[in-house]
Amino acid sequence: MPEPARVQRGLEEVVALESRICFIDGKLGRLIYRGYDIRDLAAKATFEEVAYLLWYGRLPNARELTELRGRLGELRTLPDPLSRMIDTLPADAAPMDVLRTSVSALALYEPAETKAGATAIAGAERLTACLPTILGTFHRRRKGLPRLRARPELSPAAYLLYALLDREASELEERALDVALILHADHELNASTFAARVTASTLSDLYSSVTSAIGALKGPLHGGANERAIELAELIGTPDRAEAIVKEKLARHERIMGFGHRVYKVEDPRATILREWSRKIGEAKGDLHYYEVLERVKEVVQREKGLYPNLDLYSGSVYTPIGIPHDLFTPIFAVSRVSGWTAHILEEYEDLRLIRPTAQYIGPTDLSWVPLGDRT
Ligand code: ACO
Repeated sequence: MPEPARVQRGLEEVVALESRICFIDGKLGRLIYRGYDIRDLAAKATFEEVAYLLWYGRLPNARELTELRGRLGELRTLPDPLSRMIDTLPADAAPMDVLRTSVSALALYEPAETKAGATAIAGAERLTACLPTILGTFHRRRKGLPRLRARPELSPAAYLLYALLDREASELEERALDVALILHADHELNASTFAARVTASTLSDLYSSVTSAIGALKGPLHGGANERAIELAELIGTPDRAEAIVKEKLARHERIMGFGHRVYKVEDPRATILREWSRKIGEAKGDLHYYEVLERVKEVVQREKGLYPNLDLYSGSVYTPIGIPHDLFTPIFAVSRVSGWTAHILEEYEDLRLIRPTAQYIGPTDLSWVPLGDRT
């Protein structure tokens, strides 16, 4: 047996590749997309501008942005057989499973891109345009709402709100969702992006790579944490109950969803921005109770465990007062993150190296074969 190697469990702090897309300074709490600070992007950009930035490496000019908006509007319509397939899925299916299955099925109607370039960016745009339609088609059917129209004049955020709520969004609601989409768009080599890049590194296609990513995002230690965080806020109910309930959970060694991060050692800057939107939306709706409960939870977890909030703590407190059901929070994360996944897949195709680490084998190596009849 070779000498035991040092195993870096969870690949913590392992630098696996070079990238020009996203930089996180976990000590200073900074997040940068292609050179731009997330705080500037959340204050000044739209989700379409950010998607363009991630794919092309620079901000679009006015003409390029108008053209991208036009394309994202046109590309929204699903192939007819895919819409019909979504109609046959169980109405009680988890929307994340519907998204994963539908992206995989969409691949059957699209070119299977396995190299960087214009057609691969077209695939990235197609996926980014279609994810809200997939969610909207499924959600409207399970709620018995009228069929979804393409509405190409709407921004991705306004279209998603129309698709899910069957009403026009207010300006504030549209901007709140747009900011949430910007904040979720990319985050370096998080688990789902790594899954996408591992799949792309085998020279598999864009759709297979995004399907892998959706599977990884679903888990409660990653994107699934946002649904659990709002469930906790609802269980707590009022701020005065937060201290006792959180302490009980910590005493049982339970994880408090929406806290802690592998990279950030201070507050996640996305959480800081989304907390402010949680307050703004709460004020506009005349109901600040989610905001206030989460403020108390934050104080207790910080004091008791020294852990800071991450993005997933607050997304539900922005979405719920708007009327978005809990099981759509993680799928909305995917609606945004698909822009980052596809940017990373394109980068992987440009500088391809099969991702294939090794394992430290700790099992036996010298067992003797036992015939079937002699086994107990
Ligand atoms: N609640 C309670 N304790 C926690 C939490 C938490 N949310 N997060 C970490 N800890 C504790 C662990 O129990 C562990 O304690 P111990 O040393 O006494 O055993 C210690 O902090 C270190 O935890 P690790 O799991 O080793 O830290 P890691 O870097 O692997 O974890 C993770 C990062 C998975 C995000 C973790 O903080 C967690 O489970 N958080 C809750 C889930 C969550 O919010 N996920 C969203 C992440 S952000 C995103 O995907 C957008």
